[in-house]
Amino acid sequence: MKTAIRYYSKFGHTEKMVKAIAELAGCDPKTVSEPLEEKVDVLFLGAGIFLSKVDKSVMQFIESLSSDSVGCVALIGSSAIIKEPTKQMRDALQKRNIKVYERDFTCKGSMGPIGAGHPDADDIEALKSFVKEVLK
Ligand SMILES: Cc1cc2nc3c(=O)[nH]c(=O)nc-3n(C[C@H](O)[C@H](O)[C@H](O)COP(=O)(O)O)c2cc1C
Repeated sequence: MKTAIRYYSKFGHTEKMVKAIAELAGCDPKTVSEPLEEKVDVLFLGAGIFLSKVDKSVMQFIESLSSDSVGCVALIGSSAIIKEPTKQMRDALQKRNIKVYERDFTCKGSMGPIGAGHPDADDIEALKSFVKEVLK
C-alpha cells in the first residue's frame, strides 16, 4: 500500500502526531508546502485550527489534489476548544470528490493553559490505533 503524510503545524502539535504515524505508515511526514509527487492509496493529512480556521496553506494543498491521485484521505486534527477541527478539511476534500476515511482522529492541542500537555502519550497511543485501523 502506497502512503503519504502531509501536515501543517504552527506550534509542533501536529508534527508530534505525524511523527508517530510515520513509523506505522512507512513514509516520511512532509509539510503541505510539498505537493504529492505520485499516486497514493492513503494520504494522512493533519492540521490544527487557528481563530476557527484551518491554515490557508492546508486548503491550498487540498486544491492541488485530485481524486485520480489519492485513494483515500485520513484526517488528523488537534484543537483547544472546538471538537472537530477536521471538518473544514473534510468538506473541502469532499467538494473535490476525494474520498475521505469515514472516521477522523482528533485530540486536544494545547493553547496556553487550555488543554495543557496535549497531545500527550495517551493521545498518541489512540492516534496509533486509528492509523492501524486505516491501514488495515
Ligand atoms: C493563536 C491561536 C489560535 C487558536 N485558535 C483556536 C480556535 O479558534 N479553536 C480551537 O479549538 N483551538 C485554537 N487554537 C489551538 C490550536 O488549534 C492547537 O494548539 C493545535 O494543537 C495547534 O496545532 P499545531 O501546533 O500543530 O499547529 C489556537 C491556538 C493558537 C496559538
